[in-house]
Amino acid sequence: MKPIIAPSILSADFARLADEVESVSTADWLHVDVMDGHFVPNLTIGPLVVKALRPITTMPLDVHLMIEQPDRYVRDFREAGADHITVHAEACVHLDRSVQLVRSTGAKAGVSLNPHTSERALDYVLEELDLVLVMSVNPGFGGQKLIERVFPKIERLAERINALGLDTIIEVDGGVKPGNARRFLDAGARALVSGSGVFKAPDRAAAIAALRAA
Ligand code: DX5
Ligand code: ZN
Repeated sequence: MKPIIAPSILSADFARLADEVESVSTADWLHVDVMDGHFVPNLTIGPLVVKALRPITTMPLDVHLMIEQPDRYVRDFREAGADHITVHAEACVHLDRSVQLVRSTGAKAGVSLNPHTSERALDYVLEELDLVLVMSVNPGFGGQKLIERVFPKIERLAERINALGLDTIIEVDGGVKPGNARRFLDAGARALVSGSGVFKAPDRAAAIAALRAA
């Protein structure tokens, strides 16, 4: 199956965001990292920026909510133009309810897992998910080194998804580069988020092509 390439605008130049998005237009999804300074030790963007991005790209907006109590903002992000809304399992006391809320807006529903969170945390909600975003770094910053222990987790999750006959997409996020993309795909990932791997590359289209060819 062809990999889905999702550049993360976290590593883009925010003063030139429209041009930056245009520079990655050969990708498949645009990954948007939302941070609240509580769930993760960093602050980024809100629904206003998603709304500004919506008319300038046809790529699905893949919104990764690294925020506490995400239910408070799910509708706002959907109305702003988010196509996929991913919440963190660790941020949701009532994860099933949060997933139902995302689905009720018509967005594709994702759940993200921090590096220490077992894939088993999704056993009783997996069938409701369009995607699982497996973090290969501790969320909060771009340009970190990937944590190797993610690979067996991706494999176990892929086995579980296959055993249930689901078509849930495994998306990976953190430290993904053309040089290691193959390892993620071999483990069972299908969507590759890459921030610094694309935006800090001398030729972004070439970096996207290299991820695609992995
Ligand atoms: C990290 C974010 C990532 C980040 C990845 O918390 O969720 O999407 O942009 O950046 P790289 O690809 O540089 O590790
Ligand atoms: Zn992300």
